[in-house]
Amino acid sequence: MILDRLPTELSERVAELRRLVAHHNERYHANDAPEIPDADFDLLATELRRIEAEHPELLDEQSPGQAVGAAPSGLFAPVAHAVRMLSLDNAFDDDEILAWSERLARALGRDDVADLSFSVEPKVDGVAMSLTYVDGVLTQAATRGDGVTGEDVTANVATIASVPGRLDAVAGSLPAVLEVRGEVYLPTQDFADMNARLEETGAKTFVNPRNAAAGSLRQKDPSVTATRPLAILLYQIGLIEGAPAGSDLLSDSHTTVLAAMAEVGLPVSADARCVTGIDAVIARSHELEEHRHDLSYEIDGVVIKVDDLALREVAGATSRAPRWALARKLAPEERTTMLLDIEVSIGRTGRATPYAVLEPVFVGGSTVTFATLHNQDQVARKDVRPGDTVIVHKAGDVIPEVVGPILEAGALRPAAWTFPLTCPACDGALVRLEGESDTYCVNLDCAAQRNQRLSHFASRSAMDIEGLGEKVIERLTAAGLVADVADLYEINPGRLAELEGMGELSATNLLDAIAASKEQPLSRLLVGLGIRHLGPIGARQVARSITSLEALRGTSVDVLAEVEQIGPIIAESVIAFLANPANQAVLDRLVTIGLTTEEPSVSSTDDDRDTLAGRIVVVTGAVPGFTREGAQAAIEAAGGKATGSVSKKTWCVVVGEAPGASKITKAETLGIAMVAAESFADLLATGELPAG
Ligand code: IVH
Repeated sequence: MILDRLPTELSERVAELRRLVAHHNERYHANDAPEIPDADFDLLATELRRIEAEHPELLDEQSPGQAVGAAPSGLFAPVAHAVRMLSLDNAFDDDEILAWSERLARALGRDDVADLSFSVEPKVDGVAMSLTYVDGVLTQAATRGDGVTGEDVTANVATIASVPGRLDAVAGSLPAVLEVRGEVYLPTQDFADMNARLEETGAKTFVNPRNAAAGSLRQKDPSVTATRPLAILLYQIGLIEGAPAGSDLLSDSHTTVLAAMAEVGLPVSADARCVTGIDAVIARSHELEEHRHDLSYEIDGVVIKVDDLALREVAGATSRAPRWALARKLAPEERTTMLLDIEVSIGRTGRATPYAVLEPVFVGGSTVTFATLHNQDQVARKDVRPGDTVIVHKAGDVIPEVVGPILEAGALRPAAWTFPLTCPACDGALVRLEGESDTYCVNLDCAAQRNQRLSHFASRSAMDIEGLGEKVIERLTAAGLVADVADLYEINPGRLAELEGMGELSATNLLDAIAASKEQPLSRLLVGLGIRHLGPIGARQVARSITSLEALRGTSVDVLAEVEQIGPIIAESVIAFLANPANQAVLDRLVTIGLTTEEPSVSSTDDDRDTLAGRIVVVTGAVPGFTREGAQAAIEAAGGKATGSVSKKTWCVVVGEAPGASKITKAETLGIAMVAAESFADLLATGELPAG
């Protein structure tokens, strides 16, 4: 009836959302087989709750928007919770935290929450669990279920190493009944190791640690659960009876209770912090977000709780969630998107790598459009097909990955993708040798390989030629101006200026940059030649020890293999490269052209001037051209120290894309210099802060 009075579109949307939320809730909580990432589910549930809140006439107690978890599956004996296990309301940004704090202040009859203490804790991404100890002995473990009735998983939970079977009596006595609540999870590293083992045996792998934890708890045979490296963290007391007078377990402060729980042997998070006022809450939640990958487990948010348990009573709860707590959800690291196509790229060695072309999706803090699929076997194992909806995973700086397709039972799928037989660039045959996982274009004249070789030569870690990116190289080779690296130094200026999109000025700048690269030391030239197995560190070792190209060309595998960090494999590869007549011809030309063929002695090379000696540098956010580790290594190579947090001792903060707000605020407060990411290379080279 009520629905009839609403615009049909809205009522249809609500019905649709209720159907979707109920369906995915069931898949997630009861079947441990979610079809969509949590972040996608959150979007649906949030939209439903928002509409229900804005249209109270629509509210229905039975709506899945108002439910906690899902009803027990019937696999285990039901357990009635003495005190309901609630869910949490979500906030997706700082403004929503502020809005919550204002609602909280009103519920507590205060003007604001400036002098209120909050516990800010990692929101462990696992399975909610209730443990009951009678006279200090574990008697029951129950899942949350729908909040009223859970499932008895005692036999399974008793196999978890970090769940104490018996509590330590502090000062001689323990409560008669202590029910504690927390989260069972799979540590990130253990999850990765477990999946690697499963993959080796050809068994099905788990999509994420939460799913693996839930599946492991739902085993009928506890000896199976015992083989899974599960762990637990507890975050509150559900019920306490007959506690010794004066026990801190009875304290009115949540933080004191957590410490008392730890004292009786219950594992609690070491990362919960008690802070005062909402600004400090926001700052701490940013800090936890920044360090989310330093934790040994995955988190999907930060939980903010009023510390004073008496005030919690005043604030109360809705049927679903307490008013005194809030989950600040973090940027999702898993999302779904459409796999538009699978294409193959050809590297400088001819390796053909399949990659996913995706409908752009914001995940793990950036927009992802492409993701490598590594090789033919990986595509087959994941069974992803153009046209599929796929799950994309990206955690911070980690390379984005396509986890797998989302399959709807009974739905028709697009045809399986097949690896091309010919090179997409030159049409030559693609060859996969028996026993190898990689496929190669074996045509040495392949344009893609040539362009990649030139790009590598010009790259930052090699000859560092500014303005010579992939697009320009493609134009140069397509116009027949350049075929190999020596040709770069003999480009006809007139013809260059005539190239599309070039012009006199760009042409002059490019030629100047190319000419300047002649001065690069031998180590960079060796990197640029793209010799198999020889990376920047090895190239530097070789150049330092052999000191000139001429000497290198006259050396032997045995001599080279003696160089520090150079074993027989790299040595043989270098000697084979130098023995190849085509390579010899290019090297002869480079020498005639006048490239530096020597390595300056250690103290005078740019790379070795300790430009940042004794200086502490913090990098926050992504610096283009560097991975997080790469930026740290570059600071250390320049004699500096790279640290993760800003302090009085910090010399400067390099600010990349999506920097950490708390680091910026701290640097501002302490008056520490901030350097834009574009100036990072200059900073490394000169050790001087940019002017202004
Ligand atoms: S407190 C009534 N603290 O998140 C408040 N929950 O989305 C009970 N969770 O059901 C929850 N870490 O399973 C709390 N430090 C933490 C948590 C946490 C993870 C889970 C818990 C809860 C769910 C709500």
